[in-house]
Amino acid sequence: MSKPFFVLAPMDDVTDTVFRRVVDDCASADYYVTEFVNVDGLCSAGRERILPKLSTQQDKGTVIAQIWGKKPENFETIAREIADGTIQGFSGVDINFGCPDKAVVKNECCSAMQQPHLREQAGELIQATLDGLGGRLPLTLKTRLGFKDIDYTWHEFLLSFKPMMLTVHVRTTKQMSKVPAKWEAILPILELRDKISPETKIVLNGDIVDRKHGEELAEKYGVDGIMIGRGIFHNPYCFEEKDIWSEMGREERIELFKKHLELFENTYKNGERKFNPLKKFAKIYISDFPGASELRDKVMHTNSVEGALEVINT
Ligand SMILES: Cc1cc2nc3c(=O)[nH]c(=O)nc-3n(C[C@H](O)[C@H](O)[C@H](O)COP(=O)(O)O)c2cc1C
Repeated sequence: MSKPFFVLAPMDDVTDTVFRRVVDDCASADYYVTEFVNVDGLCSAGRERILPKLSTQQDKGTVIAQIWGKKPENFETIAREIADGTIQGFSGVDINFGCPDKAVVKNECCSAMQQPHLREQAGELIQATLDGLGGRLPLTLKTRLGFKDIDYTWHEFLLSFKPMMLTVHVRTTKQMSKVPAKWEAILPILELRDKISPETKIVLNGDIVDRKHGEELAEKYGVDGIMIGRGIFHNPYCFEEKDIWSEMGREERIELFKKHLELFENTYKNGERKFNPLKKFAKIYISDFPGASELRDKVMHTNSVEGALEVINT
């Protein structure tokens, strides 16, 4: 059986152009997905504030822009801007049908749209995005197993639009991330794909830790691709065949954090992104060596890139 392709999961406040570059330099994924970006915001006066989320300044890999929102006309506008290069650097557009955030669900967006009474609206968003893309770039979709319960009529519906890729985080919205991922639940979706849209690649997501693990699951279930999210927090080299990270000591880990901080500084020169969310990355790099938790604590008390660099350089 051929090997699966690998995707770094979209993660809000995590997978910006800087972190995608750090990961790509460690061990490449085949696709990267941006944080979810609101199309209604992008089509409002707040556009300039949101646009940095769609920066691809540091990317070397293949990046897909993930969008969400409410109004079909805004999906069409942003999809068109991405396809015609007004917003540059993307190889596709993904629609988020998986976010379980309470406020988002209350607003009947993202994973809320898995519910049958919102299907018509979901279809309008997908069609508007396809219209904006105009066949110039592919459409991909990311969703869950259903809202309250598993509902394969939802995946059947999504497949009818023949997306290039359909990623399924194998939990329902109600389950959030509190129960183990149900990998075997992908099997009926593969059958639907074969019937409805044989060209669509099915991507399995949820609790997959690294390449080796992904390859085992792809072999077992027959999926085309594997998406890894939180696994990257424990191993920035998770797309590598070999276990490199556990062999890396204090110096190498700190070097990687330094690289992240410096790339951040060079990318957001005008304060486009705040420093504070950056501190949480310390958990990834400053871990599993003697004195790590004390050093991490010091980083958490800094409030600028220079401050953080000073702490880790001493
Ligand atoms: C901090 C964080 C932010 C996330 N943001 C997004 C997002 O913007 N768009 C999205 O589709 N999924 C988002 N997710 C969900 C992940 O893409 C992924 O589906 C989920 O974490 C399960 O995969 P994993 O077990 O490999 O982490 C986020 C997850 C985390 C932990």
